[in-house]
Amino acid sequence: MNKDLRKAVIAGNWKMNKNPEQTKILLGEVAPLVANAKCDVVACVPFLDLPAALEAAKGTNIQIGAQNCHWEESGAYTGEIAANMLTSIGVTYVIIGHSERRTYFGETDETVNKRIRAALNAGLTVILCVGETLEQREQGITEELVALQTKIALLGVTKEELSRVIIAYEPIWAIGTGRTATAEQAGEVCGAIRKVIAALYDKQAAEAFTIQYGGSMNAKNADELLTQTDVDGGLIGGASLKAADFAEIIRAATEG
Ligand code: PGA
Repeated sequence: MNKDLRKAVIAGNWKMNKNPEQTKILLGEVAPLVANAKCDVVACVPFLDLPAALEAAKGTNIQIGAQNCHWEESGAYTGEIAANMLTSIGVTYVIIGHSERRTYFGETDETVNKRIRAALNAGLTVILCVGETLEQREQGITEELVALQTKIALLGVTKEELSRVIIAYEPIWAIGTGRTATAEQAGEVCGAIRKVIAALYDKQAAEAFTIQYGGSMNAKNADELLTQTDVDGGLIGGASLKAADFAEIIRAATEG
């Protein structure tokens, strides 16, 4: 497998943090620090902050993403946002199937698949999150589980559309806990995901496919995680809220 064949992507997942004013300030701090990044840089912000983020990112190399979208184009879905609403204001990325959506908001593999297809139809690039609980890891079913999540999520996604999909492997036990997967654990599961992509599509598609690690990735451990052959980037929660830390991870990705 050749790492040079795929693009590295570092995405911040701000979760439910920052208001529009704070968004402008943080992106203003991040932009000059990452201006020379050789990887793609994305900030996925709360819906309310999207216009402010797009404005602040104008003329920079930072792309703006949302953290979810609905599968219908419009209708009676109180509280939801359609994929075409996101593209209408210039959003280019969306996170789908984050474990917090699966755990707290009843997201299932089936709804993840519907949202992905809608997002791809609208022209968005998708960051699909997969990952196991600690119990599932201890049961030894991580790779099967992640394979199943991947297969269901990608049902009906064409090879052409796959070029706008990234998978973030995020072990649930590592998210926001300060407990990072070892570089070997991250590399192993990302490698297993690449094999699933090869089986679903082909070897060439798998080699070009970007797979991120996420879960307590920070300025200190990014180097080691990102040198793993199958880890092509990161989905960063807590550390993406600190400009210097986020920039340090981007530097590691550029060199990794
Ligand atoms: P964390 O979150 O970096 O704070 O662990 C990662 C994520 O949930 O995407």
